[in-house]
Amino acid sequence: MARRRRLICASAALLDGADGVRFEVERNGAPEAAFAIRFEGQVHAYLNRCAHVPVELDWLSGQFFDLDRRLLLCATHGAVYDPRSGACRGGPCRGGGLEPLPVCETEDAVWLLE
Ligand code: FES
Repeated sequence: MARRRRLICASAALLDGADGVRFEVERNGAPEAAFAIRFEGQVHAYLNRCAHVPVELDWLSGQFFDLDRRLLLCATHGAVYDPRSGACRGGPCRGGGLEPLPVCETEDAVWLLE
């Protein structure tokens, strides 16, 4: 059976290494913050929840990348994550990671697979 999908944004809204798009997913009946970014041409999406303390990563809405645009940065204490996998690459996330969400890109749009 085909998975249901929900529109996150137009493909053009996600530029490589640029600001992400925030959206919400439902977890246990409650909305939870999530985000999508594009890195090396591929779209990735994660729950917007740091592995150190469960807070959102972006102080400035949509700004998830560090200054070099190579890693995702938690603005609270500086944990950094691999944009391709969400794995911790430094800082207080200590082996934790971001929770990835299934997405696809087709018809010039980015979709959450539910
Ligand atoms: S809350 Fe993200 S690094 Fe501490």
